Parts: sequence; C-alpha cells; structure tokens
Amino acid sequence: MTCELARKDFPILERNIYGKYPLVYLDNAATTQKPRQVVEAMTEEYYNVNANVHRGVHFLSQQATELHEASRETVRRFLNARSTAEIVFTRGTTESINLVASCFGQAFMREGDEVILSEMEHHSNIVSWQLLQARQGIRLRVVPITDDGQLCMEEYEKLFNERTRIVSITHVSNVLGSINPVRDIIRIAHEHDVPVLIDGAQSTPHIPIDVQELDCDFFAFSGHKIYGPTGIGVLYGKEKWLDRIPPYMGGGEMIKTVSFEHTTFNELPFKFEAGTPDYVASTGLARALDYVSSIGFEAIEAHERDLTAYAFQRLMEIEGMHIFGPKDISKHDAVISFLVHLPLKGAGGAIHHLDMGTLLDRLGIAIRTGHHCAEPLMHRLGIEGTCRASFALYNTRQDVDALVAGIQRVSKMF
Ligand SMILES: Cc1ncc(COP(=O)(O)O)c(C=O)c1O
Repeated sequence: MTCELARKDFPILERNIYGKYPLVYLDNAATTQKPRQVVEAMTEEYYNVNANVHRGVHFLSQQATELHEASRETVRRFLNARSTAEIVFTRGTTESINLVASCFGQAFMREGDEVILSEMEHHSNIVSWQLLQARQGIRLRVVPITDDGQLCMEEYEKLFNERTRIVSITHVSNVLGSINPVRDIIRIAHEHDVPVLIDGAQSTPHIPIDVQELDCDFFAFSGHKIYGPTGIGVLYGKEKWLDRIPPYMGGGEMIKTVSFEHTTFNELPFKFEAGTPDYVASTGLARALDYVSSIGFEAIEAHERDLTAYAFQRLMEIEGMHIFGPKDISKHDAVISFLVHLPLKGAGGAIHHLDMGTLLDRLGIAIRTGHHCAEPLMHRLGIEGTCRASFALYNTRQDVDALVAGIQRVSKMF
C-alpha cells in the first residue's frame, strides 16, 4: 500500500464541514484519524470476543487474553524491544511519563537530585517532574534551545553533575517540529551513568523506532497519535529498570499474593498494570501499528518529508509569514508552527493565532492554535501561541495548497 492509496481507509476525511469538501485535517499532532482496519478490529472484538482478560478459565476470556498479549508482541516488534516484559500498556504518553517520574523518583531520587529536561517539553514531561519535586524536593534542570528551535547540546553536557539521576527529553517537539539528536543525548547521558526517558509521542508516527539501537532506558508513546484508539499508550522500559522500580498503582492484575500483612507483586510487565486493561484498545493499537508497517516507514517518511518541504516553500510565499523551529528540513518533522506577522511590541498587523484558526476552520481547514501544552516554550519564544499545521500519511499537496489559499484569504481580512 502507498500513502496516496491510504486516504480511502479514513472515512472521516470524506466529511463535508461547513459545506467545504474535502476536509483538510491538519491537526494530526493532536490526534490522528483512524483507519477502518482499526475501528473494525475493535468492533469485531466487542461483538464476538469480549471478556475480561487474564483471570478467566472460559473460552472467551482466553481468546481475549490471547488477543491482548498478541498485541503486546506487536508493540514489542514495532519498537524492537528485547521482550514483552518490557512493554507496559498505559493510557498514553502522559501516564507513561508520570509512571517513570513517580516510580523511578521514589526508587532513585532524593532531595537535591536532578532531572534534565529541555525548554521544548510538553507539559506532561514538566509537570510530572514538578509533582515529584513537590513530594521529594528534586531539582529540574533545563536544556536551553537555540533561536531556531534546536537543543543547545553544549549546554546539555554542562548540566550533568553528581546529582543528575535521569534525563527526560522529547524526541520530536510538538510545537517546533525539531527532531532532537536522541542518539547523542542518550550516549552522553550514559557516559555519566544516567538513564534516559524519551518522549516519543510525536516521533512514533513518523520515524522508525528501534529501542535497542537507540539504547534508551524508557520510551513513551500514545496510540491515538499513530492511527490507534484513544486511551491506550505504551511505556517501554529496560527490564533492569522496571525490575528495580516499585509499582505505580495497586489493585488486581499487578499482584502475585495479597494478605493484610504482606503483598507480593506480579512479574513484568503486569506489575505496572493494575486493574482491567483496555484490552480492546490494545487490539486497536496493534492493528494501527500493523497498518503503519504495511505502508512502511520508508514510504511514510518520503511522503511526509515531501509534504513538509512543499509546505515550507508554499507558506513562505505568504507575506509576513514566520515559521518557528529548524529551517533545515532534515531536522524538521511534519509539524509546522507559524504566525502571520510576529506580535512585536509597538508593531501592529500580527494576526492572532486564534483568529487564524477560527477563520480557517470556516473554510474547512482544521489546524491547532494556542500554546500546545508548552507554555515554557512560548515564554522562550516571547509569544502566547502559534498556529500549528501537522501532517499525517493521508495528507496531500492539495491539503497544503488549501491551507496556503486559506491563510492568504484570512490575511486579506486583517
Ligand atoms: C511531545 C508530547 N508529549 C506528550 C504528549 C501527551 O500525549 P497524551 O495526551 O496522548 O498523553 C503530547 C501530546 O500532544 C506530545 O505532543
């Protein structure tokens, strides 16, 4: 299958909104649309298999368990993890990061110990650590970014000291589209014997991930951003870490034995999966990963790279256009944040991101506006928010043309 043919698998793209057709959906960094294959597999499971997993002796429970565990194996293969013991199902990237902050923090961090983050993190990779800071008095150290939205690697190296316990950094910025040099980030951290958590929310849909090759210690991503259902995500963790950190939540599934005096915990990965898991969503996630694999990252990357380059070129035709993040397309993922005229002090003419987003919407073009859950980054850029167009494998050059025509039309109104 090719990206061009994939569009037909996404019925929602056929919707007519405000009389405009076809829908130009450019909010993929927030969530992607779902192909029929994902929705149908989930419907089929609810109609024909549904039963609670792991605990049942009856046929349906065993079948549901087999499907759920087969999905874990699909995720393992997708990330090239060593073992399914390293694949923890969570509700999404946010929960995966909170799990690491909370459990790694409890096991390995004391007052005054430090976590290294970056200036371009999503709130989920800031606030989780601030909660730990409030509980245990840890310190947040922040890698600054350059004016064109890349990590200052020299400053990163300088942040390490004897109190550094973990690095937690995004692979791809959900605002700037910057692709961070995660191999170097991990290598440098390991030279200091410090483990690394990679936030893969924005990279997994666009870049092939091999956790063994990356050698990251933890890797988090969300199903809904990679054509899968909402409410499911993954935490990959090296067994040596998952073994040594305490459980996140208590309840069924995560225990071996329970008494009022003493409880023992289940083996990996179940130690981190308290309660009934979303076993239908895990099937949906596995079908989504199969779907991506059937197209292949070579084709997806080539298609999205072409779209991003084309969008850069076309957007720059617009008077007053300012694009944030790396200008070098090889360092820029399929996320483009922009403003038409920068809101400079004393200068008029800037078009507010909210106005732009609202008016584009009336033209049938869905983009995202605002701070994108990255307020510290907005402070660094000296702005309140941006307009963000983000691409998926089903987007086309026609979508880019519609966006550019829409922005030109809106700009004339101001
Ligand atoms: C870089 C990054 N990290 C984390 C998240 C949080 O993902 P979720 O809301 O699926 O947990 C997002 C979502 O936009 C993101 O872009």
